[in-house]
Amino acid sequence: MFEKWVSTILLLQFCCVGCGFCGKVLVWPCEMSHWLNLKTILEELLQRGHEVTILTSSQTFLVDYHKPSAFNFEVIFVSGNQEDAEKKLNEFLDIAVNIMPTLSLWESANVFQNFFLEATEQFEELCRKAVYNESLMEKLRETKYDVMVIDPMIPCGELVAELLGVPFVNTIRLSMGNTIERYCGHLPVLPSYVPVSMGGLTDRMTFMERVKNMMFTLFFDFVLQQYDFQFWDQLYSEALGKRLCFS
Ligand SMILES: *[C@@H]1O[C@H](CO)[C@@H](O)[C@H](O)[C@H]1NC(C)=O
Repeated sequence: MFEKWVSTILLLQFCCVGCGFCGKVLVWPCEMSHWLNLKTILEELLQRGHEVTILTSSQTFLVDYHKPSAFNFEVIFVSGNQEDAEKKLNEFLDIAVNIMPTLSLWESANVFQNFFLEATEQFEELCRKAVYNESLMEKLRETKYDVMVIDPMIPCGELVAELLGVPFVNTIRLSMGNTIERYCGHLPVLPSYVPVSMGGLTDRMTFMERVKNMMFTLFFDFVLQQYDFQFWDQLYSEALGKRLCFS
């Protein structure tokens, strides 16, 4: 009898421990290698008993929300189709792999910027269809996620997190010139020590390379930006109902 009680109590404890450590994770993904890398981590989270929900665009061609899966999906329906999205991304890949390496750093940063600026409209549609869909936001709010995992390549993930009141983790430190990390994340990035992303330098720099790195930093601050920050300031301010200023 006593043994039975002990094992019951132990079992109950295991149940509690199990629940106590399991969280609800909401994911704002991106395509291509970004998704493939992230998926591995998310699968591990599933293995450990966490609940993972992917908030994805209907245009996605790698995040396969049609197939049965251990992930939950919330799909944001946007106007473009998957073929268009895939074609556009393939064009970019072609440029990134075949053309950008032949250009100077300034030129390739410029090509990169144009790609992102051209995508603003698509990003905007996705963002508006997420944050202004009351029933979707309410559903996400009610699920009470513990954390959001955000691929910051596609803007708006952090806005969703803010609106839901959920803390978030970014999957990569990537913005061109480290602009977002420096200004929003307050990451200490001394131009004479930390190589600016997209600058092609390493953490071992000669004096002249440090000077170059400094110039890259200024260039990314004042000349070239990965996203149309003024536009996103406006959209975020509108959605949050308070004036934000990043740029
Ligand atoms: C809003 O979200 C709900 C729930 O995900 C979905 O069923 C509905 O189609 C969405 N509405 C619009 C206009 O996208």
